[in-house]
Amino acid sequence: MTLPIILALDTKEIDQAQSWIKAASGQIDHFKIGLEFFLRHGITGIEKLRQGTDFKLFLDLKLYDIPNTIKGAVESVANLNPKFLTVHAAGGAKMISAAAMALPTGSITAVTVLTSFSEIEFQEMGQRQSIEDTTKNWAKIALSAGAKSLVCSPFEVSALRQLSDSAILITPGVRLEGDDPGDQARVMTPKQALSAGADFVVIGRSITKEWDGTATQMQKKIDLIATTLV
Ligand code: C5P
Repeated sequence: MTLPIILALDTKEIDQAQSWIKAASGQIDHFKIGLEFFLRHGITGIEKLRQGTDFKLFLDLKLYDIPNTIKGAVESVANLNPKFLTVHAAGGAKMISAAAMALPTGSITAVTVLTSFSEIEFQEMGQRQSIEDTTKNWAKIALSAGAKSLVCSPFEVSALRQLSDSAILITPGVRLEGDDPGDQARVMTPKQALSAGADFVVIGRSITKEWDGTATQMQKKIDLIATTLV
């Protein structure tokens, strides 16, 4: 059985991404390609990764533009058949609706407030509502506009679960006890995030950092996380 983990392939190297997929694919079947990989290797890079081992694609492009441009952008990657494709919830209803119409078979995933924001930094941006209230407001708009999944921090998961039973809730910003949070400001453990109602947790550095090039090391790290989930 695979774990409810989406592994973030945050690397510029195709070989490294391929090795991570190969090493983790017995335990994890969802892999996230973000800007670091996509801006260097694009669609052909993803196709190359899939030749090795097929996997469920979480395409984390965090799109944000006017609706017509978003429509074109989503059409440009639709042939990759991403299970999840991210857009910023802050883009609003028309933008999200344009994205959803351009990807009828996939799940447009609205990213609410980034997990790297603290409440203070968020207010400094001129936001008058708290992160939680903003997240709930943006989530409602995104779901009504056709998003089927949402990205939020573990702190907002239970509030969003109350809003919708059917939305797929995905939380980055997870760390094991004692792990370095790095640039993430609102972190919880994977177990806390899943218990709060998340369907998937996104994990990158806790699994991929200080990789020694062996599958065994990565599998041990994933096993360790799996033991914390029970
Ligand atoms: O290494 P770490 O586990 O912090 O990686 C988290 C991943 O999730 C990164 O690829 C990051 O781009 C992504 N992400 C995030 N916060 C969001 C949306 C996506 O950290 N709100």
